[in-house]
Amino acid sequence: MPAISATAPGKIILFGEHAVVYGRPAIAVPVAQVRARAIVSAQPSAFPPRVRIQAPNIGFEAHLDELPEDHPLAAAISGVAKTLNLRRLPACTVRITSTIPVAAGLGSGAAVSVAIIRAFSAFLGHPLSDEMISGLAFEVEKIHHGTPSGIDNTVITYAMPVYFVRDQPIKTFRVAKPFTIVIGDTGISSPTAVTVGDVRHAWLVYPEPYEQIFDRIGSTVQSAREIIENGDPKDLGKLMIANHQALQELEVSSPHLDRLVEAACNAGAWGAKLSGGGRGGNIIALVEKDKDLIVAEALTASGATRVIITEVRSIGKPT
Ligand code: PMV
Repeated sequence: MPAISATAPGKIILFGEHAVVYGRPAIAVPVAQVRARAIVSAQPSAFPPRVRIQAPNIGFEAHLDELPEDHPLAAAISGVAKTLNLRRLPACTVRITSTIPVAAGLGSGAAVSVAIIRAFSAFLGHPLSDEMISGLAFEVEKIHHGTPSGIDNTVITYAMPVYFVRDQPIKTFRVAKPFTIVIGDTGISSPTAVTVGDVRHAWLVYPEPYEQIFDRIGSTVQSAREIIENGDPKDLGKLMIANHQALQELEVSSPHLDRLVEAACNAGAWGAKLSGGGRGGNIIALVEKDKDLIVAEALTASGATRVIITEVRSIGKPT
């Protein structure tokens, strides 16, 4: 059996995080500059036959049968075996590497799962469909995040811009004019499960004001989609600022994130907001193409530990 490799991109949420957990729409796009990769290779001489998992970036090495069922790497591999009704797996090594920062809102967990599921199912001779890959990665997302919306596994599996509504079929859309986003990392890792859990507690105590904020975010997402499909991307800037303010009201921003948002806007970005779970991780700034380096420098000067410049454009055919 030849070694099989698969990769999956990172992602950013352009609009709608947190409210998406409560049924409102969100827009997410892949970030091809960072990727997770899984390589599966046969070890025909190994006896007894076991599946060895290596993740050298995090100094991790173990056999599948040594890991608890709810270990995310084990769950991705076992999910494929269960789907294919395989009780016994051939002796092999699954090697995972990733350039996606962890717990930073760039979808590293989902990308690792998608890469493993895609590579492992192909290695076994039964490459799974995107729909099945996304579904299995969603099960692993539940281990990471408790109550995920499913947006990360969806955008990362399909690797194209998506307009996502929980429990509804995936919708991709046309990006009329490509636009540039500068991503700035606070360098602070913040588990999404914590911010999602905190928003849930607050929503249970204050349902009405929280529902109103979610509604506001939902209409911002609708307007953003119309602009992306038909309008001038520059107009997304003010929607980003409105979305960031709503996330501040949900108490998922932080002084670090606010500082980077302000620095980007002061350096000439059309708008900026936190992206993902919040309290740490990344901000995204919408910039004119030839201002990308100026904004990137301003973010670094304000404490960003890493900056990525990416272009949002249509890939493939809208569904
Ligand atoms: O994985 P992150 O940090 O990009 O956040 C995902 C977005 C949330 O809306 C906060 C959670 C979810 O499951 O949709």
